[in-house]
Amino acid sequence: MGLLDGKVAIITGAGGGLGEAYAKLFAKEGAAVVVNDLGGPRDGSGSDKGAAQRVVDEIVAAGGRAAANTDDVSTVQGGENILKTALDNFGQVDILVCNAGILRDKTFANTSEQDWDLVVKVHLKGTYCCVMPVWKWLKDNGKPGTIIMTSSTSGLYGNFGQSNYGAAKAGIYGFMRVLSIEGRKYGIRVMGLAPGAFTRMTSDLPGFRDREPDAMALPENIAPGVLYMASDLAADHTGKVLGVSSRGVREIKMMQTDGFAPGRPYTAQEVAENADKVFFPAAPEKTAASA
Ligand code: NAI
Repeated sequence: MGLLDGKVAIITGAGGGLGEAYAKLFAKEGAAVVVNDLGGPRDGSGSDKGAAQRVVDEIVAAGGRAAANTDDVSTVQGGENILKTALDNFGQVDILVCNAGILRDKTFANTSEQDWDLVVKVHLKGTYCCVMPVWKWLKDNGKPGTIIMTSSTSGLYGNFGQSNYGAAKAGIYGFMRVLSIEGRKYGIRVMGLAPGAFTRMTSDLPGFRDREPDAMALPENIAPGVLYMASDLAADHTGKVLGVSSRGVREIKMMQTDGFAPGRPYTAQEVAENADKVFFPAAPEKTAASA
């Protein structure tokens, strides 16, 4: 018995890196998998339609079920075609993992409008474009489902040189929170993921480039945490972000202090005088590389 027997999963950006590891593990656990990938370099400047098919061939050779899709996640038509690939090949969809992504890191002053727009388009709009048709299909067919959206500690905590990427990833967090609330009445769980893995996306970033890759940071050792989120093992958990990295699996949460709450009109000076109540005690800052 596999954890995903009888389920159909769409995984975007699964022609390499983390998505490939999720696709292979999900297929091993019994899911029929749509492997989407536009292919191309890390900065999103081109395409390589062979990436998705290679992963499909490897899944099929290992006895699994998979179908390739090479659409661009960042277009409405692309999102619709990805769902169509699932329906044409497997007749349903139960799980969507929005994983596709690109990187155009630069300090903010050096970030062009084109870099900003493309990164936000692939990550944030790409998540919207893939979720919308799946959401409607689940809702219209009265089916429960699980949607996993890939955020990042770069958006949740911030990280130097990633203003475009961090903005998109924080936007995905907000999108996930809202949909998790709307999804409750339809039995659709929506979870956020903040992975940390050694892939082509991170191999030359601080924290990864200066050391040998830790085996626990390889995509195949991240995939079990994502399988947990996609499977019934996650029970009714929804609206939560799990950090999954070489450090294991943990929840990442938005928090607030008890604050300064005088219950009467107050001055800015009083806020300053009560700064110890307003702010959390200073703690070592978490960065994407340390998270
Ligand atoms: P990767 O670069 O190995 O994989 C991303 C895949 O997405 C590539 O195969 C690429 O061809 C595909 N892709 C890019 N644009 C696409 C588009 N428009 N349509 C369809 N496919 C497209 O990167 P990695 O590390 O596997 O990242 C996967 C996800 O995890 C991304 O969303 C990334 O932002 C996120 N992430 C990764 C972290 C890490 O430590 N590797 C840290 C935090 C977040």
